[in-house]
Amino acid sequence: MEQSIDQVGAAALREIEAALTPEAVHEANTKYLGRKGLMTQLLRGVAQLPAQERPAAGRHANQVKQRIEAACQEALDRLEAAAASRVERIDVSLPGRKFGSGSLHPLTQITHRICDILTRMGFEVVEGPEVESDYYNFEALNIPKNHPARDMQDTFYVSEDIVLRTHTSPTQPRVMEKRTPPVRIIAPGKVYRCDSDITHTPMFHQVEGLLVDKNISFGDLKGTLTAFVHQMFDPLTRLRFRPSFFPFTEPSAEVDILCVICRGKGCRVCKQSGWLEILGSGMVHPAVLENVGYDASQVSGFAFGMGVERIAMLKYGIDDIRKNFENDIRYLNQF
Ligand code: DAH
Repeated sequence: MEQSIDQVGAAALREIEAALTPEAVHEANTKYLGRKGLMTQLLRGVAQLPAQERPAAGRHANQVKQRIEAACQEALDRLEAAAASRVERIDVSLPGRKFGSGSLHPLTQITHRICDILTRMGFEVVEGPEVESDYYNFEALNIPKNHPARDMQDTFYVSEDIVLRTHTSPTQPRVMEKRTPPVRIIAPGKVYRCDSDITHTPMFHQVEGLLVDKNISFGDLKGTLTAFVHQMFDPLTRLRFRPSFFPFTEPSAEVDILCVICRGKGCRVCKQSGWLEILGSGMVHPAVLENVGYDASQVSGFAFGMGVERIAMLKYGIDDIRKNFENDIRYLNQF
């Protein structure tokens, strides 16, 4: 009898000590001390013993029972304390939380770079409104009423004669109206066109340039843009001036650089031509000078306009213009 009491008691203590949750302790308590518990049954068995054995066996069984009860209480206290300290515990070995540092958007960086190069040559940065009148966006720039750029398909109209500017060129007449030559300005900013595919977004960025003074020639335009391209890309970049047409310049030229991807061999990016168009330019049309009250027989000038996204894409080898506007941190982190 004594022996089974000790065995059951030892088993009970082992289970209670191993319990990992309060529920497990309560389960062990029921298993041994419950109404049908193993220890309870042994205690009942004591009553069946011969009278002379009963007192000693009873005393022993009660001691073991009390030890089990005490062990249960201790286990519950221990688990409760552990749970409480878990809340407070600080794991000093955990790595800290990183705070990402912000940086300028790639288009902002390119715009800054373009303006840096040109301001060092003596150009002054000015800005114009994005919501523009038909007059400055088209009329003053010698763009006729029937010109395709004035089509509803290409231009966002706010009202009959208010548009979202389709280029930064309206800053040219705006500045010239207020100043007398020499005028030497660049105008960075947003422009808008009804267009959307992998190389066009409805909003994009341009930087306009304008220089008007006495005796300005096409040679000045070539020299200025060549110096610009050599600083923007690299000093060995080859460029060519290709005859073109813009209503506000005469003569007009588009500037191409040798394809930065294939170096002129011909590839997908340059559409096998070996050249990439990077900007439009020309000698300011006499009609534009006259529109702002300048005497076209006394002064002349050149102008140019470039797409910031286009330059960024060529410089960084980006294949989809829309990546610039998706705010995907994995894209932005690369610059
Ligand atoms: N405004 C033209 C465009 O958006 C670009 C341009 C071409 C600007 C020739 C100029 C220029 O100043 O002279 O396509």
